[in-house]
Amino acid sequence: MQKDFIHLRAPKGWINDPNGFIYYKGKYHLFYQHFPYAPRWATMHWGHAVSEDLVHWEHQNIALFPTKYEDQNGCFSGSAIEHEGVLNIFYTGVHYDKINPEDIHLAVDDEFQSAQLRITSVNGFHFDNFGDKQVIIPAIKDASIGHKTHTRDPKVWRGSDAWYLVMGSSTADRRGRLLFYRSTDLEQWEFVNSVVAGSELGWMWECPDYFQTAGGEVLIFSPMGIPTEGTKEQNHTLCTCVRLNEQTCELKMDEEYQYLDYGLDLYAPQSTVDAEGRRVLVAWLRMPKPFAEGRIGMYCIPRVVEVKDHHIYFRVHPNVEQLYTRQISDPTQADPVGYRVSMDMKKGESVSIGGYRIWRQENRIFTDRDMVFSECENRENFCIQSRTPELAEGCHLDVYVDQNLIEVFVNHGEYVISHAVYGMTDQIETDDPIEMKIYTL
Ligand code: FRU
Repeated sequence: MQKDFIHLRAPKGWINDPNGFIYYKGKYHLFYQHFPYAPRWATMHWGHAVSEDLVHWEHQNIALFPTKYEDQNGCFSGSAIEHEGVLNIFYTGVHYDKINPEDIHLAVDDEFQSAQLRITSVNGFHFDNFGDKQVIIPAIKDASIGHKTHTRDPKVWRGSDAWYLVMGSSTADRRGRLLFYRSTDLEQWEFVNSVVAGSELGWMWECPDYFQTAGGEVLIFSPMGIPTEGTKEQNHTLCTCVRLNEQTCELKMDEEYQYLDYGLDLYAPQSTVDAEGRRVLVAWLRMPKPFAEGRIGMYCIPRVVEVKDHHIYFRVHPNVEQLYTRQISDPTQADPVGYRVSMDMKKGESVSIGGYRIWRQENRIFTDRDMVFSECENRENFCIQSRTPELAEGCHLDVYVDQNLIEVFVNHGEYVISHAVYGMTDQIETDDPIEMKIYTL
């Protein structure tokens, strides 16, 4: 079986959202939206990789693929839970209204039905795609509850008295919406409540994730249709602190929203609880072009999510952080897997790491990837320059550098800027000398 290190990639073809992320029977299972035959989005399968430490990944056989009327045109995103030793997977099956004769992988006029399905496994490796799929929530017919097409991505968790499921949807007047369901047996699901957002937050919310973590309750969601300065892409992942009333599934959200990541390349994250009880998250890096022959898309470093004073922090997972122990004086000495540059940055200072520019202006960090993104065709979909909001206090940077992904952790996860990059050099340059430390594996 093929292996991967730190950043998960599909062994071939296309990867998008992380799915079914879970620590189960002593191993992390990470599934992913996958099309194995070409580096483009098409009929979705669930790829599968397994790890003991969130660092070393071993690729497995494809876990889910279309076999039923309801998932004929794809097994879309979903989540996993363990119950009585059995792995339960919940996902969205899609069935296109019409077949597109020119390209069977794409729906005609965006018309399709979405149902929610369940499949189980007693060991996390074997899935009976032909015999074991069960529709738990059929395509929604009542538009006052949800959208027949745009309802998807069930995230399931154990509440205090029952199982809960949240998924993303859309209203008739095109606003984002969350649908909450409850179950006592994982088979029968009762609709409890829907939460409708203001029109400034897009027209459909993909991949909602609700959880409790150190310091508070968090909602992460990926609204479609929020125009953001500097990028043509309009689907971006947001997060905010919330309070969920389990009985009614009413959700109170803070007024302030953060981006998951201020580089705006990361999308559709999913979280789980790690072996030590931390909330850990991975997200899909949208890439403009393949990083290797026939392979496109990858995942960020697993990040620990914590809340302090209503601010959501995304910190490097300690299993990754502790790998970078060998100090070097410049990147030419680095392991091919990459390196980390750590420094405190004062106002007005700047650095170029391999051609990727980072600078501090007053109390914000700015980045520019122009030099390492120049030959990308659909480059206008992506942010070239990014910046953080005002930092609360101090300015410490830990920059994790991989050949195709640079992740700038500011103040240990107060904000993060991550970007796909191509053709980095192995030079670090500064205008004025800055004290920095470089570590590799
Ligand atoms: C987000 C998303 C999900 C959907 C999946 C399909 O990137 O559009 O809403 O389930 O990807 O691949």
